[in-house]
Amino acid sequence: MPLRLRELPLANQKVLVRVDFNVPLNPDGSIRDDTRIREALPTLRAICDAGGIPVVLSHLGRPRGQRKAEYSLAPVARHLATLLDCTVHFAPDCLGEPAQRSIADARPGEVVLLENLRFHPGEEANDPAFAEQLAHGCQVYVNDAFGAAHRAHASVVAITRYVRWKGMGLLMERELSALQRLLQRPEHPYVALIGGAKVSDKLEVLQALLQRCDVLLLGGGLAFTFLKARGFAVGDSIVEEELIPAAERLIEQAQQEGKQLLLPLDACIATTLSPEAVPTTVALAAGIPQGWKGGDIGPETIALFTEHLQRARTIFWNGPLGVYELPPFQQGTRAMAQAVAEATRCGAFSLVGGGDSIAALRQAGLAEAVSHLSTGGGAALEFLAGRKLPGLEALNYTGQS
Ligand code: 3PG
Repeated sequence: MPLRLRELPLANQKVLVRVDFNVPLNPDGSIRDDTRIREALPTLRAICDAGGIPVVLSHLGRPRGQRKAEYSLAPVARHLATLLDCTVHFAPDCLGEPAQRSIADARPGEVVLLENLRFHPGEEANDPAFAEQLAHGCQVYVNDAFGAAHRAHASVVAITRYVRWKGMGLLMERELSALQRLLQRPEHPYVALIGGAKVSDKLEVLQALLQRCDVLLLGGGLAFTFLKARGFAVGDSIVEEELIPAAERLIEQAQQEGKQLLLPLDACIATTLSPEAVPTTVALAAGIPQGWKGGDIGPETIALFTEHLQRARTIFWNGPLGVYELPPFQQGTRAMAQAVAEATRCGAFSLVGGGDSIAALRQAGLAEAVSHLSTGGGAALEFLAGRKLPGLEALNYTGQS
């Protein structure tokens, strides 16, 4: 197992801390959801309390190796200073003189945040020379960026070769223990609720989940590929034609293994999926007419999925059940947030990942009402699919099975 924070020498050290501050931003540049920042605070506070100075590394968005003002971490630095109630020295570059100056200026009790790593192409290229420069002058490295653990990038992988001590932060530890629980000892019934737009993003995880869970509830855009595979008319709804055979195989796999794979019974449809749409509900047995698209699950599906969630002892939820960014199609995702929270209140262990699922919980004031909110969308899915995550391998993590 990787070293834990308390096993690392922190006192009087400038401690490199890789976090995932890749937070969603509003069009005006303000932070829309600060969950990822808040979740990293315990690690930063613990380093300060132990007499170390955190030197925080993160990416934001996908600037693809170029300096782009809209992806600057400057607003995050201001927000971090408010949350921690301490001075945060923001370095306008993650390398060279600006970074070294901020690191040298920081005093115990203060924090350094370096500018977006992805402004340099070396980050995504996992370039050793870039990693060596990042590590310059620091001997201790803490990875608390579970959300980026599936990326073989320089600040996640190559950097570990240039420090004397490396280990995981408190958030990483919490994430791993919650996800391990789903992999190794889920209480049954185990219900997985999976939404989102595309089957292609989630095919592997759906196959892996089917082996472990008892009931797989599918909603969101990806359900239409399965509905079409089952012979339903889906009108102009989003369908990945090339994945229909894979969807058929998954349906067969469920039947052979005695698992329940449940698809929506009804849908809220409209001719265009827009903020002005006035959706109407149709039973999927009757089919969606040509010229109409499914935008959300309907009330019968909400009732069916809620019933299964109420009986669950373990729940994994990832992805919205409808086009959550559009108000007319938010109801299904909201109802699932309520149902998962209620099941948790009745004793189920629930793990929720993915931006829209978390946003739905937050908007309903239910973020604290689930057992674990994962900060890793893609990383959590890859972990549950049984893939080795480069960020964990670089820390010598061997716990996944
Ligand atoms: C995420 O948001 O899933 C992580 O921050 C990784 O971001 P990426 O998909 O741009 O690599």
